[in-house]
Amino acid sequence: MGPCDLENIILGLPTFDDPRILAGKNYTDDAGIFRLNDNTMIVQTLDFFPPVVNDPYLFGQISAANSMSDIYAMGAIPVTALNIVGFPSKVDRIILREILRGGIDKVREAGAVVLGGHTVIDREIKYGLAVTGIVKNNSFTRNSGARAGDLLILTKPLGMGIITTGIKKGITPGDVEQEAVKWMSRLNKNASEAMMKAGANSATDITGFGLLGHALRMAEASDVTIKLEVKKIPVIEGTRDILEKGAYPGGSGRNRQYIEKSIKWNDRIDEPARKIMVDAQTSGGLFISISSEKADDLLQNLRDGGDEYSEVIGEVIPKGDKFIEVA
Ligand code: CO
Ligand code: CO
Repeated sequence: MGPCDLENIILGLPTFDDPRILAGKNYTDDAGIFRLNDNTMIVQTLDFFPPVVNDPYLFGQISAANSMSDIYAMGAIPVTALNIVGFPSKVDRIILREILRGGIDKVREAGAVVLGGHTVIDREIKYGLAVTGIVKNNSFTRNSGARAGDLLILTKPLGMGIITTGIKKGITPGDVEQEAVKWMSRLNKNASEAMMKAGANSATDITGFGLLGHALRMAEASDVTIKLEVKKIPVIEGTRDILEKGAYPGGSGRNRQYIEKSIKWNDRIDEPARKIMVDAQTSGGLFISISSEKADDLLQNLRDGGDEYSEVIGEVIPKGDKFIEVA
């Protein structure tokens, strides 16, 4: 669902007034933090969606990586997971087996375990995980911690929404698909560990609302303006070609409508660049706010750990007319 629809539905619902809820009080996120006792906090999140690639095993990996992403965005560690499955009665069961195998392999790579799951008959295939994580050393990141003077780092390239829409239309070249699969199935584990070690002020993961949608939430929650530099933003090679051939997800268009009023664009930024910056991502990277003196070390550790597209893509400035400026 688009960010606008969702906000209207959630608005005014009764909330839980419990001091142990450290994040997730107003239902605006797909993850929350709960304090069990003085030393232990748990993070819970879930995500599931229809296949974004044709190979069921790879889809399983991608969806599992995406489901664990919010745990990593908070600087926590995933520990247990449950499968969420919708599956049509007429599709070969071997497909589901492959999806689940992909998910299990990814959860194992994360150092967590799968404890079971729930399956319903559905018109289309859907798969994802409900994940529980733990916070280590009482420290976690929120999207409200960005401070003026911070630098902003993005850890994976953009383009996944456009590329996967192109796959459905049969216009995504094989090598571009492979590159997108590589990044979508990559855990944000290294990125999360590196940012916690470096002492990041704030972080979020880039998924369905696109780079600018998630940046907007961080800016609003932190009461700052986020200034991004379009030239610095990593994009998977070939994304523009696929966009120009007409592949663009409906969700990305809805993102644009919702956030347009909060953005100040530099006039010379062309339409494709704007579309890519709001494109709905699947299992995108972390978007990290960190004080400028710590940014170089973090960037080095991110790249050394395999997040080689990591780049400083902007800075946090005191709140101006708009929450986001793109130069
Ligand atoms: Co999510
Ligand atoms: Co998220």
